[in-house]
Amino acid sequence: MTPGGRASTAAPAEATATTITFFGGKGGVGKTTMAAASAIGLADAGWRTLVVSTDPAHSLGDAFGTELTDRPRELSENLWAAEPDAEAAVRRRVAQVTEDARSTLPREVMPAVQRHLAHAAATPGMAESALADLLMDAMERVPGEWDLLVVDSAPTGHLLRLINLPELLGPWVEGLVRQRERVASADSLVAGMVGSQERDSADDDPLLARLRERRGKLERAAERLRAEACVRLVLLPRRMVLAETERAADQLSEAGFRLGPVVLNQIPERPDPRVVEAVWRRFEPQGVLELPLAAEEPVGIERLRPLAR
Ligand SMILES: Nc1ncnc2c1ncn2[C@@H]1O[C@H](COP(=O)(O)OP(=O)(O)O)[C@@H](O)[C@H]1O
Ligand SMILES: [Mg+2]
Repeated sequence: MTPGGRASTAAPAEATATTITFFGGKGGVGKTTMAAASAIGLADAGWRTLVVSTDPAHSLGDAFGTELTDRPRELSENLWAAEPDAEAAVRRRVAQVTEDARSTLPREVMPAVQRHLAHAAATPGMAESALADLLMDAMERVPGEWDLLVVDSAPTGHLLRLINLPELLGPWVEGLVRQRERVASADSLVAGMVGSQERDSADDDPLLARLRERRGKLERAAERLRAEACVRLVLLPRRMVLAETERAADQLSEAGFRLGPVVLNQIPERPDPRVVEAVWRRFEPQGVLELPLAAEEPVGIERLRPLAR
């Protein structure tokens, strides 16, 4: 793959090893700003780049100084941005499950199913799961519609759960699938005995099909996160922020994420040299990028572009 989709034969492999870049770190350190600036830099270099935010408190649009929605919008040459709507994704998810349940479960249990779903829809788990779906949807469009994906503000805990989800979900989905298969084959056995039409279990069981699809999707996503993604942590030259960043770095690499250079952002004119030194000591092997605290908020493509360099 080469910038701008030109002939790809001469492309150096190492230049394209990373197709997904996450910007992580504590609130207010500059993740959104860095994700936006980095996407601008990649787009300027000729890569078709999509930058999305997974932070429910969206601010990617604020960083670009423009309105964003969940439909990727072209902001300049090779650059698209979107702020997926997590609440809408939760509603879609609930509607989907309701539809599946309606077509597979006895009608009298539907009120109970609906009560359960209404409750589940309000939990953080459902919101996070909907966000994971949105992220996976974006991942499935890259490479393809876009060459590169940049993700703003993925909380460390969320990233860890995402990459471990297939293992966590594995036995659970496996159990459900087996249970569904047993029920389905009992159904067709009974249908055979009473001489009514026989059902082909997997094909017309949407719930079973959906579970298998979801498990496959999670497995593919986790595999790609290990192989193609890189997490760039953003931090400030402060002891507490450094301590938290070190913990995040340990947890992320232990889970199998590759870590890119950290961004030491918003460095004041006279930072504590011991903290800056400690940041270099810890992160020198993967690289440290230093950025000064600008007098003005870097908002809008033209102000963000210098940061990308
Ligand atoms: N290098 C910088 N110099 C000056 N202001 C910055 C810099 N980086 C980020 N900011 C500002 O700091 C604030 C927080 O940045 P933001 O990217 O929203 O952080 P996060 O996404 O980590 O919460 C924003 O107002 C942003 O414009
Ligand atoms: Mg942010």
